[in-house]
Amino acid sequence: MTSTETVDLRGAAATLLMTLYLRRQDARSPRPILGDPYAEEVYGRIEHDVHGLWQVTGDATTVACRAAILDGWTREFLRAEPDGQVLHLGCGLDSRPLRVGAPPSSRWLDVDQAEVVDVRRRLYTVPGHVVQVPASVTDDAWWEAVDPARATLMVAEGLFMYLPPEDVHAIVDRVVTGTPRAVLAFDAVAPWTVPVSRWTPTFRAIGTEFRSAWQPATFAHRHPSLRELDDISVYDEAAAHEPRPWVRPLFAAVARLPALQDAMRLHRFTTD
Ligand SMILES: C[S@@+](CC[C@H](N)C(=O)[O-])C[C@H]1O[C@@H](n2cnc3c(N)ncnc32)[C@H](O)[C@@H]1O
Repeated sequence: MTSTETVDLRGAAATLLMTLYLRRQDARSPRPILGDPYAEEVYGRIEHDVHGLWQVTGDATTVACRAAILDGWTREFLRAEPDGQVLHLGCGLDSRPLRVGAPPSSRWLDVDQAEVVDVRRRLYTVPGHVVQVPASVTDDAWWEAVDPARATLMVAEGLFMYLPPEDVHAIVDRVVTGTPRAVLAFDAVAPWTVPVSRWTPTFRAIGTEFRSAWQPATFAHRHPSLRELDDISVYDEAAAHEPRPWVRPLFAAVARLPALQDAMRLHRFTTD
């Protein structure tokens, strides 16, 4: 029998349990969007006492759409740059390096806080070119693991909203100036979601909140060398891909309201 792992995470780290739970929900669906082949087993091996996960069940489609688009961008990068480097920031317990089949010629860094990487190491067996880096992305330490000579993809899913804006800009600066060429893929939330997050029952239960929102003019001003490749509403994607016919009109209605359409968007930028 496979062993279970007791997980005691609080704050932003505990949110990885939600996204993993939602990927498992998607994988269980008769018509999965992402179909993460690892989510069921990995979630089944975790013992935790974070309650309130039921409150976010309805978001399985948005989380699966978000992950599927980022997987697609990651595969595209690795096809173009088989010797490239992927910085998987705030990786949580996501199986992305295994899902996308990062080739042995590539270098892959999974970066998350030490307590998360400790659990990750116990739950996943990864090939040698996938390096687990236990560090806060706001510290300098993790950058020592980065190869400054490789074309680089930074993929940060469900991370930047938990960091103060200056930390987000500092990470972007570091990737842009510290690698020969880079693609940056990440999701960001609308400003109105920041105060709302303080009152969200699940976030209150685990003790976290959003700290950053998407400010396109500020981002363009701070990072003038970047060119935007994509800007996608996750709710538009959910409306298009929702497998349950009775939920589809709800997402379609959400996607028509600009404030909700912008609630979470996926961005891709390049230095080329
Ligand atoms: C919503 S979870 C997303 C996890 C994963 N990307 C996914 O989609 O399942 C947020 C993740 O960001 C990580 N995180 C938050 N602040 C961080 C920091 N300062 N340094 C590294 N990781 C951080 C948390 O530990 C957690 O794993």
